[in-house]
Amino acid sequence: MMSYPLLDVRVSTPTLELRGATDELLDQLADVVRAGKAHADPAPYDDPISFYEPDPDLRVAKWLRAIWRGRGKVEADAWRLYLVVVVDGQPVGMQNLYGVNFSTFGTVTTFSWLSADHRGQGLGHEMRAAILHLAFDGLGANEASSDAFVDNHGSNAISRDLGYEPNGSDWATRQGEPALLNRWRLTRGNWEQRRRNNIRLHNIEACRTSLPLS
Ligand SMILES: CC(C)(COP(=O)(O)OP(=O)(O)OC[C@H]1O[C@@H](n2cnc3c(N)ncnc32)[C@H](O)[C@@H]1OP(=O)(O)O)[C@@H](O)C(=O)NCCC(=O)NCCS
Repeated sequence: MMSYPLLDVRVSTPTLELRGATDELLDQLADVVRAGKAHADPAPYDDPISFYEPDPDLRVAKWLRAIWRGRGKVEADAWRLYLVVVVDGQPVGMQNLYGVNFSTFGTVTTFSWLSADHRGQGLGHEMRAAILHLAFDGLGANEASSDAFVDNHGSNAISRDLGYEPNGSDWATRQGEPALLNRWRLTRGNWEQRRRNNIRLHNIEACRTSLPLS
């Protein structure tokens, strides 16, 4: 067992696994970040984010620092679980879960990216379904949100397919330029109607003991 049990959390589906983002897994994934394969066109991320840093080594350093900072902040109204997406033993992206005022409202939001080499094969849909299973089944969440720039067809399609409802829009900047975001909301009831029976949660007691869920 890890000395920090949250790093042992795993979610498995028939096609992929989400694994607690250990430094070892992050180190393997760093090659993808260094190669610029976390990027996409049109730009999918709101500012600030390490992925827009042009210098490859600095990009990796900023990316790691942001994850370490987020990992170290565990508060009742804000905590973050970082999970690496693993396919056939290979780290190919991340699927993170953020508690936002979870102890009061049971609300979570998600953030994800996949290596450009692995997009368009259904993995994005599958990893979001996996993290929702962890949130709703494992942690007892009431509601999940997601947002994506209006021209991010993949992310918006995944939210729509998984039963999220439109929840308005917001402005944000990406690489300094203003752009509109779609906001999405998935209620527990809507998730239950689509609940999968082939997603497995492992070692998630750590979430209940180490995260301020209530
Ligand atoms: C968003 C992302 C994780 C989606 O993963 P993916 O594996 O490519 O998506 P999937 O193959 O599961 O496709 C899901 C749906 O999006 C659609 N889709 C995916 N990429 C698309 C594209 N570039 N243009 C149009 N539709 C697209 C698929 O057709 C599918 O729709 P359907 O279910 O109606 O058939 C991935 O594209 C990515 O990493 N993008 C860059 C980072 C990013 O945008 N992160 C989210 C920030 S909010």
